[in-house]
Amino acid sequence: MDNKNYYVSIASLFSALGGLLFGYDTGVISGAILFIRKDFSLNDNEIELVISAVLLGCVLGSPLAGALADKFGRRKLLLFAAALFTVASLLTALAPSALWLGIGRVFIGFAIGFSSIITPLYIAEIAPPSIRGRLVTLNQLAITVGIVVSYLVGYLYSSSGNWSMMLGLAAVPSIIFGVGMWYLPESPRWLYNHGKKEEALIILTKVHGEKTAKEEIQEIEMSIEESKTKKPWQMTPWLKRALMIGICLAVFQQLTGINTVIYYAPMIFEFAGYNTPSVAILATGIIGIVNVLATIVSLWLIDKVGRRKLLLTGLFGMILSLLSLGFSFHYMEMTSHLGWLTLISLMVYVASFAISLGPVFWLLVSEIYPTSIRGKAMSIATFFNWASNLLVALTFLTLINYLGRPGTFWFYAAIGVVAWVFSYFLVPETKNKTLEQIEKG
Ligand code: BGC
Repeated sequence: MDNKNYYVSIASLFSALGGLLFGYDTGVISGAILFIRKDFSLNDNEIELVISAVLLGCVLGSPLAGALADKFGRRKLLLFAAALFTVASLLTALAPSALWLGIGRVFIGFAIGFSSIITPLYIAEIAPPSIRGRLVTLNQLAITVGIVVSYLVGYLYSSSGNWSMMLGLAAVPSIIFGVGMWYLPESPRWLYNHGKKEEALIILTKVHGEKTAKEEIQEIEMSIEESKTKKPWQMTPWLKRALMIGICLAVFQQLTGINTVIYYAPMIFEFAGYNTPSVAILATGIIGIVNVLATIVSLWLIDKVGRRKLLLTGLFGMILSLLSLGFSFHYMEMTSHLGWLTLISLMVYVASFAISLGPVFWLLVSEIYPTSIRGKAMSIATFFNWASNLLVALTFLTLINYLGRPGTFWFYAAIGVVAWVFSYFLVPETKNKTLEQIEKG
């Protein structure tokens, strides 16, 4: 790796700590809740509230993030998110009551809502086109690592039941995230858009070399000149299509059920006959590791084979594995020996998600919008992502009651089919193009 790529990779790694916290803070509650429930004597509704508090914060925080990042800059907002992560993690660790804990978790949700938008956006804006996919996917990799680490921490503290430690440990990466962002530069595209041309050129030269930096500055300038002839939100055919792609992929990413697995995996394994908690936890760990490994594969492939091929192939795998997951539960009613099929289906499902809808959604929404409205447009898509996440989390158990276990997973498979057809006809290839070329449509 030459020096320029080294610099931009370090910048991406530090900002991806926002992704690590996203994964850790959404995953940690599944282990911690067992002990929180006992300490505060929570009933089922209160448990649901504590669990959903983070998602509620994300839903409330994500609409604000983009507008603030367009106004104040990407770096400042990431610094703010890091501070919020730190304070809210400590607040929840010290919570003397369930109400305090719930409120603290809403603030953590705010920080996740912010970083889930600004981290991929910041990386996309500093990355050279040839490795942009890989660098933005580092954020998704960090999310999956955060989830596995949260399972591991939950497991390590399960004998002592120390949920304060489980929640409070998030302060450590939060502080490193903040210190890292303090030393990282602002996004050159944001700077240029705000009249700070010299600074933008200096940063671009540092990350892409002198020759490429000059070419990119010219492209950025042309795209800004062009955008002056239109209103920022003028609904050109491309912007309409890009908004539809962002919103629909956001919804598909969640309504195909990924977080039923991430949040409820031990329970799904119990359905499949893995009745001892330690076996269910082990199986959950395996799923988490498959998620990380498959994300590494996508990191390696995304700039080579492109976004579209990965998306379509992975979606196909998700549909097949959801169907077979449904079958495993369907036939389980007749024979109890299908636990292995459940485990394999879940592994294929998570791996397929990790090479497609997982990274490709976050990457595309950081690439397809014009710089002048990128933050706000990403906010819209991300808001839909968190709102559908909340919807799935709140309806999974009810769906199982109405449709049965097989029916629920077949329902997610049917949504997968719609997502495949949508992607086939509407999702563009953005590999190797500059952000300015992509915004021309
Ligand atoms: C999704 C999360 C999900 C995670 C799992 C992300 O891309 O947005 O909702 O929990 O992937 O790896």
